[in-house]
Amino acid sequence: MTSPGSERGPRHDLPAARWPDREEATRSLLFSPAPLGRKLVAATRSWVPAMVPWRATEDGLVTDRNVDWYGRFADGRPGVLVVEATGIRDVPSGPLLRIGHDRFIPGLRRLVTEVRRRSAGETRILIQLIDFLGIRRRPRPETFFDRYLVVDQALRQRAAERLGDPDFLRLDEATLRARLAALDEDRLASVLGAREFESLRMGHRERVTDLHLDHVRALPRTLPGLFAAAAARAREAGFDGVELHYAHAYTMASFLSRLNDRSDGYGGSPEGRLRLPLEVFAAVRERVGDDFPVGCRYLGDEVIAGGSRIEDALHYGEAFAAAGMDFLSISKGGKFEDARQPAIGEAAYPYTGPSGQECMPTVRIDERGPFGRNVALAAAIRAALRAAGHATPVVTAGGIATFDLAERILREGSADFVGAARQSLADPDWWRLMAEGRGAEIRRCEFTNYCEGLDQKHKEVTCRLWDRLDLEAAGQLSADGRRRLLPPRR
Ligand SMILES: Cc1cc2nc3c(=O)[nH]c(=O)nc-3n(C[C@H](O)[C@H](O)[C@H](O)COP(=O)(O)O)c2cc1C
Ligand code: SF4
Repeated sequence: MTSPGSERGPRHDLPAARWPDREEATRSLLFSPAPLGRKLVAATRSWVPAMVPWRATEDGLVTDRNVDWYGRFADGRPGVLVVEATGIRDVPSGPLLRIGHDRFIPGLRRLVTEVRRRSAGETRILIQLIDFLGIRRRPRPETFFDRYLVVDQALRQRAAERLGDPDFLRLDEATLRARLAALDEDRLASVLGAREFESLRMGHRERVTDLHLDHVRALPRTLPGLFAAAAARAREAGFDGVELHYAHAYTMASFLSRLNDRSDGYGGSPEGRLRLPLEVFAAVRERVGDDFPVGCRYLGDEVIAGGSRIEDALHYGEAFAAAGMDFLSISKGGKFEDARQPAIGEAAYPYTGPSGQECMPTVRIDERGPFGRNVALAAAIRAALRAAGHATPVVTAGGIATFDLAERILREGSADFVGAARQSLADPDWWRLMAEGRGAEIRRCEFTNYCEGLDQKHKEVTCRLWDRLDLEAAGQLSADGRRRLLPPRR
């Protein structure tokens, strides 16, 4: 299963991998310690970035499957393991983890305990805190024209003018809706407002710029408290720190986006766009104290028309570092703005367009290939931070799956931590195997995004390299009974 949009170029072979022996690994930068915040030290510079596995209950509670999933990553003893994007509000959001109420703490504590046990206390465990706005599934056209479309005088006038038919000014509403429903896409595009047309094609999606919506206008008042309370719960559950999710398609990234032209002081200029992210951080810091690591994940490049680019990211990075963030994890793309049209009844998925392919690049992305593709963004941000006198650690990710590449990134000073999401999913033991000089045993990620296809369908995430192996002995299986949920133990 690959996302069709990612089949753009020739298929790249995996790079030849030379694995270190135990002695070389011991001497390497990758397996050397690095500070993370004022007091905490990570035992190595290896990092497993957040990955949603779709294993929580419908109420957002931690399940045994979540505990086993993170325990399995901890077997590989990465320096840092980031728990998936976890919702800060106390509202239903399907089988995604939540941290918007104290009742979520015991389950999260169980997860932390398991990671500590299985990594023998070696892995530092962070949790990614997320807020997202409302998005609806793509409607059936009948439903859209019958129920969602707002018929007002402006619409009547546009229809009359653009279709050259003054009847639209007078038609009764039911007939007008029926006439519009019969139009082809081009005509609809000219008659409906841009947002209405988008709601028909993609499903309605709220934006941070929807100041006519009370709850969106109020975000600068509500979000600092919600993030701060969530971070306090994370601390109580025993996490080593939190990662504020300021990346991809979600609320905080949308505040940072150049597309944010809010007119209330929280958009429209670099300072305006930074204001809420900094206020959220300040509220979190005040609540959890100076000794609890708080960083963020944000975009080095949004990769969408009119969006933020590396110049913006350099400015944001310096502001985050100056405010006292303990690490910056750099990602790329993953936006709704260029997502593919979903099927009727499905919601848009922000990893299907060109920006999404930059976020989780495959072996078919283009002639440059996926390997270490996003390192330059992290390197530029790190260089700007160092030039401004900030020692803030920088994390990079994107197609990193060999020792030599990881080590080169660190030696060249492009980043302080090396993230590997899909390679760690393909083989969570890979860090430990490398450290032990057993690299030849590593199951290597093929970067074809079967896992991402499952995420897109909100199915339990697994890897095609191991999810059909030895099903009888597998223990946990997926809902359809056809896939194992955890890679075999060695
Ligand atoms: C199944 C899946 C789920 C993901 N979920 C998240 C998430 O919750 N938060 C996030 O910041 N990134 C998420 N990502 C992106 C990864 O953290 C990572 O940035 C991306 O896969 C590129 O790194 P890689 O090439 O090492 O996989 C997810 C990726 C995958 C494959
Ligand atoms: S983790 Fe597995 S399923 Fe995902 S891209 Fe790698 S090989 Fe494919």
